[in-house]
Amino acid sequence: MSVSEEFIRELKYKNNISDVVSGYIDLKQKGKNLAGICPFHIEKTASFFIYPSNESFYCFGCGKGGDVITFIRLIEKLDYVESLKFLCQRSNMNFPEDELSNDSYKQKMAIYKINRESAKFFHNNLCSLQGKSALEYLKKRNLSLKSIKHFGLGYSLESKFSLVNFLSSKGYFQKDIIDSNVAYKNRSGQIIDRFSNRIMFPIIDIRGNVVGFGGRSISNNNPKYLNTADTIVFKKSDNIFAMNFAKNSNLKNLILTEGYMDTISLHQMGFTNTIATLGTALTPGQVKLISRYTDEIILCFDSDAAGQKATLRAIDIFKQNGISSKVILIPSGKDPDEFIKYYKDESAVRFKELIKNAAADIEYKLLNIKTKYDINDAGDKIKYTSEILKILSNIENDIEKDIYCGKLSTELNISKESIKSQLSKYFKKISKNKNKENILPHTLGYYAKDNQDFSLKRIKAEETILTYIINNYDITDNILPKVSENLFGVNFNKKLYSALKTLILNNRDLNLNNILSEGFEVESAGRITKIICDYKREYINKQVIKECILLIEHENQRAKIKDIQDINSAELKNYIITLKKTKQ
Ligand code: CTP
Ligand code: MN
Repeated sequence: MSVSEEFIRELKYKNNISDVVSGYIDLKQKGKNLAGICPFHIEKTASFFIYPSNESFYCFGCGKGGDVITFIRLIEKLDYVESLKFLCQRSNMNFPEDELSNDSYKQKMAIYKINRESAKFFHNNLCSLQGKSALEYLKKRNLSLKSIKHFGLGYSLESKFSLVNFLSSKGYFQKDIIDSNVAYKNRSGQIIDRFSNRIMFPIIDIRGNVVGFGGRSISNNNPKYLNTADTIVFKKSDNIFAMNFAKNSNLKNLILTEGYMDTISLHQMGFTNTIATLGTALTPGQVKLISRYTDEIILCFDSDAAGQKATLRAIDIFKQNGISSKVILIPSGKDPDEFIKYYKDESAVRFKELIKNAAADIEYKLLNIKTKYDINDAGDKIKYTSEILKILSNIENDIEKDIYCGKLSTELNISKESIKSQLSKYFKKISKNKNKENILPHTLGYYAKDNQDFSLKRIKAEETILTYIINNYDITDNILPKVSENLFGVNFNKKLYSALKTLILNNRDLNLNNILSEGFEVESAGRITKIICDYKREYINKQVIKECILLIEHENQRAKIKDIQDINSAELKNYIITLKKTKQ
């Protein structure tokens, strides 16, 4: 029988693997993970590990591994369905005889509908008499009617019941209205609109669903912006404003701003590749979404101190994920929206100029350091040089490095040679640390001894690609075209990749149960878990995957050449003879 993926997720959530396992053996904290004596084989030292971040276990002694369901299968000697029932009982859940899964699906659909109806309602308000001052406000902020329509902007009325009454009259259930967070229940049990007297910005996901709202106060009501709280269809930290439009802009990069108004103003000026974080510090979920669409981001945050700090942080996060950044510096402390308002008709041309002159990430960092020091002061000069060298030592391109050294030499009146020699000292220190870190999880490449034909490096590269795919399900449509089954040399990896591909193409989760159902025995759970359990999001990024693919392709190429060399001269003669014959 098949159960829904929501059900499996819920079941695993309610049956935390550490809790379940600690019912059988003693576990001790070891860094982020837990360790204990393996219950599946006899041992004296603990080689059984729990990886909470991956909800998985793996024993380095006997190779058993898997998720909480596999654990119950193995330890209670139950089959798959019996294990699910066992865990249901443990966590007081009902076993789905079908309808459970449908229910949560239906609720999601109801919330999408409520959000859409609410957006329409807000938009109609804005165009009605009651929305007159709100519309005026937007006009004063230079938004055209076309932009207002395009983004579906709206207005929430002052009355605190207008939306609730409207939705109820349309037959929506109170529970769904509250769960979509457009309204809430107050202490005396009344259902009240969440947003009142605010300009409403619908937040639309990449599939076109209205998932939430941002509401800007137009009186002096605090907070200035009120957003939808997280619901079953909306997680603020995983969403990006205007991505639904920007993804279709067909431009090679995206412009990232801080605010709704900045983004809308820029779209209005023709920069349709603009997006905004939702007032949060950039999150991994947002970076992941962005990386589906571009390798280059133009950062355009506010020019205040907070904005600049956010810029520096964003540069590093993007770099770790294989996205290069450029930074737009808006003069005289303005945010993009203010800039556009200030320069009126000239603003598009001027903004294009800003993009053209955007600083590369390194340049921006250097400028930023410069503002902190007075280079006429000897003490400051040393500190300044040392900070700059730290940054330059991260540049991989020698020519680029040389250019910056030259610039620094002129600027500080220090010989280029001494700058370069200091730089190479830094570089050595850094490479030493990097080697020590060994960025790939230590669990990879464990089965190398079964595959003598391939180098350990190559096996690790194959497994790195597999763990990346499993742990980044939502960007797999980007990876699949770049990877083919033939890339994998190790048969097990090849088979695992085909299984993942089938699941992805069928829109199914890449959880262990689904993977196993693609023709693996339960014994393989350990080997699969081994590949995914110690996944390190901070180190395994797009760039690393590119390098892995290159490394494997290179090895495949070399193997081909070797095959040809291996043919001895007699064979070669025969080969040429047959070739000639076929030609005749
Ligand atoms: N924000 C938020 N909650 C707040 C304040 C801000 O969610 N209490 C988010 C909004 O998405 C906002 C962004 O952070 O667009 C940037 O905030 P800010 O610079 O204060 O607002 P602006 O976008 O400049 O808005 P406006 O121009 O309307 O003042
Ligand atoms: Mn603003």
